[in-house]
Amino acid sequence: MDWRLQVLKQSFLSRVPFGQSLRLLKRRVFGYKPDAANLRYTLQNLDQMKSELEEIDRPVRGTVLEIGTGWFPAIPIMLSIEGAEHVYMTDLNRHMDDITFQATLEFLKEDRADLLERLSHIHGPDDISATYLSPFDVSQVRDGSIDLILSRTVMEHVPPEDIVHLLSSLRPKLATGGLMVHLIDNSDHLEFSDKSVSRINFLKWSRRKHAFINFLIKGGENRLRHHEYPGIFEHAGFDVVKERAYVDKTTLDIVPSISLERPFSEMTATQVATLTSIFVLAPSAGTNVQQSVE
Ligand SMILES: C[S@@+](CC[C@H](N)C(=O)[O-])C[C@H]1O[C@@H](n2cnc3c(N)ncnc32)[C@H](O)[C@@H]1O
Repeated sequence: MDWRLQVLKQSFLSRVPFGQSLRLLKRRVFGYKPDAANLRYTLQNLDQMKSELEEIDRPVRGTVLEIGTGWFPAIPIMLSIEGAEHVYMTDLNRHMDDITFQATLEFLKEDRADLLERLSHIHGPDDISATYLSPFDVSQVRDGSIDLILSRTVMEHVPPEDIVHLLSSLRPKLATGGLMVHLIDNSDHLEFSDKSVSRINFLKWSRRKHAFINFLIKGGENRLRHHEYPGIFEHAGFDVVKERAYVDKTTLDIVPSISLERPFSEMTATQVATLTSIFVLAPSAGTNVQQSVE
């Protein structure tokens, strides 16, 4: 679908009165089948985050809080069967329900034969040690009670000043030695449904056009590039313990031929074409940063 039509559709759907109830009714009547490729990619991203933590000898354990669980709780279910003591699933808006939970479970049972035995004990949200907090307010969680805070494809939807506010308000929630890990998709998400545009199409827009599109689409993107995040995390009181930047080769090749807006036109092609980021963060302590670019 042309990205402009996609913007109009999202703008309309986010403004329809009783939109949430209508969506629920639709799910009950027609079911809600997740995109299998998308969920497989989510699991791959979880593995990438876990690898980063394992490389610094910090396997996932204890109490975990996921920022922005979304519709399909694949990450919380996986964390729960892999040994997390408790998982807080959090969101700004209530997207997940029994129908999307069941759909995720069915996907995992079909796709992960290796986990079938452990998954067979789960029939609904009550069978995993998890709490859904939505709309999320940090005061719902006790100070010093969380061992790991993680997010996948959430930070790119949060304005920079709100990232500072969100992360700094979560900082006291971490237990001693607690960490955060965030996987960020820096690409233009409108390209998901319109393959005629590049993955950095939105970097051609003026600030005003970007602000207008974000006004139309609730939950638009901030367009931050990988190298801009560490300063924001620092403002929020976190050191980057480890970071990984995935440069998209196809995008890198086309950067010179695209007329980018400032400030993107003043960045290096690699900075612009880094489309996936993983950051492991610790409350500020001045630790060494291990940088990897792929
Ligand atoms: C693109 S979805 C990603 C969902 C899920 N993490 C995944 O990987 O499929 C972004 C999610 O982040 C949530 N979100 C955005 N800003 C948030 C915030 N400040 N606090 C908590 N959740 C937020 C949105 O409501 C949405 O569910």
